[in-house]
Amino acid sequence: MAIEGSKQQVLEYLRHHRGEYISGEELSKKLAITRTAVWKHIQALRQEGYQIDAQTRRGYCLLSIPDCFYPEEVAAGLKTSWLGRNLYYYDEVGSTNQVAKELADGGAPEGTVVIAEAQTGGRGRRGRSWLSPPHKGIWFSVILRPRVTPALASQLTLLAAVAVAAAIRRHTGLPPGIKWPNDLLAGGRKVCGILTEIKAEIDAIEYVVLGTGLNVNMEAGDFSPEVRPLATSLFLELGRPVARLPLFQEILYQLEKWYERWQEEGFDPVRRAWKEASVTLGREVEVNSWREVFRGVAVDIDAEGALLVRGGGGEVRRFNSGEVSL
Ligand code: BTN
Repeated sequence: MAIEGSKQQVLEYLRHHRGEYISGEELSKKLAITRTAVWKHIQALRQEGYQIDAQTRRGYCLLSIPDCFYPEEVAAGLKTSWLGRNLYYYDEVGSTNQVAKELADGGAPEGTVVIAEAQTGGRGRRGRSWLSPPHKGIWFSVILRPRVTPALASQLTLLAAVAVAAAIRRHTGLPPGIKWPNDLLAGGRKVCGILTEIKAEIDAIEYVVLGTGLNVNMEAGDFSPEVRPLATSLFLELGRPVARLPLFQEILYQLEKWYERWQEEGFDPVRRAWKEASVTLGREVEVNSWREVFRGVAVDIDAEGALLVRGGGGEVRRFNSGEVSL
């Protein structure tokens, strides 16, 4: 049997008997490997961050699993039926969006997820970079293949914000606000950004890649002095570290749930949830679109997710894209 395969089996066996001590002899018999192989696998698993107690005469006991996105750990607690079931995991990668686009070009199915512990070339909206240090955040991309016209793709970016906000709220109790179109704010600062990339023909979407960057356990010193006044993390807002793995599993669950609801019921439920969490509507805003800078009061989002802003003269302008300052 392949080394990796039998290591995985040792882990599965211990996971199945979590909290119990399993002797080296039992493991070796059940898995048909030598006691030395068992010991080597235990050592390797410890290196990966699994806490395994070893006691003479009693054997091994799995005490805790690492807060990493190892595919087997993600799968172990995943409540989705299709989203994230095809998972690509990297310790470090340039950009998960880039990898996801290459996979999508190669025919990867809807629901494929790419996640990395760190990104060396994380990309944000408007050509900005996205800081993605190791083990401090959730940096991932999802491939979707919705059967709608490209005009409706922007609804998905709002949907992603609604889903991620719901997951954060459920997992931590913190209710993030959504700044149009899909920045999540906590304490007035950005805690999560979403980069949506699309490949489409004039009348049909080939795929959408939703790339989410959520600052989970970043400390103030992790941000550059220019970014710090604008950015925050769940750790900084809550004053305690947050376990990333269950939060990621909840995000995937919420994404799948909202996406299916959107397919069945259309944009209305997403629009309502977005408006409830919005920190943009009713506020004086400045919208920086590629055409102009426009000031006014954000009054609503329309059926396509565009932002409606009433200017000083009472005229209402519609923005499909742009950067909003509050
Ligand atoms: C923004 O500017 O608000 C969007 C930031 C999106 C960052 C995420 S991190 C995972 C994925 N891979 C990337 O390169 N970017 C997105």
